[in-house]
Amino acid sequence: MGGDLTRIVVTEEEIDARLAELAARIDEDYAGKELLLVGVLKGASIVMSDLIRHLRGDVSMDWMAVSSYGASTQSSGVVRILKDLDTEIADRHVLVVEDILDSGLTLSWLVDNLYSRGPASVEIMTLLRKPEAVKVEVDVKYLGFDIAPEFVVGYGLDYAERYRQLPFVAVLAPHVYGG
Ligand code: IMP
Ligand code: MG
Repeated sequence: MGGDLTRIVVTEEEIDARLAELAARIDEDYAGKELLLVGVLKGASIVMSDLIRHLRGDVSMDWMAVSSYGASTQSSGVVRILKDLDTEIADRHVLVVEDILDSGLTLSWLVDNLYSRGPASVEIMTLLRKPEAVKVEVDVKYLGFDIAPEFVVGYGLDYAERYRQLPFVAVLAPHVYGG
């Protein structure tokens, strides 16, 4: 697997330190409130499980699955709900937890969809953000790292369902996807 990667972009230690900082801010911002973390499957599963263990406040967790890239490395812009929330979010404080914001198409659609259900608030936490995402109207409240516009894998991020288990984020070598 090592030969499929060109470079580590964010190390395990950097991720852990950043999640601890973000969690401290989240605990402070939602002090005295109940918070529902909504993870976007499957990419956010790793960041969710590490983030939630740093949180000390009153939190619960739910999941959505939406379609994005399939086995390609480009966003299609077509979003479909594959798995909806188990819980109602009316009047609740929702924090969407994502692995990466690229074109922003997926998250802007998701946030609109969640708002239509009448929550008390909707905010976004994303571990990674690529430059393109800065152009779209997605307000990220909690950001892990801004990264270069390269295709990355690891720490939940996949290419054709592989590499999610890497404890760090790395650039996938172009030869793997024929680039
Ligand atoms: P967006 O709609 O373009 O913002 O894409 C968001 C989704 O595409 C993310 O939740 C990821 O699942 C996937 N994605 C975007 N960039 C990458 C990448 O560099 N590696 C792996 N998956 C990515
Ligand atoms: Mg994702």
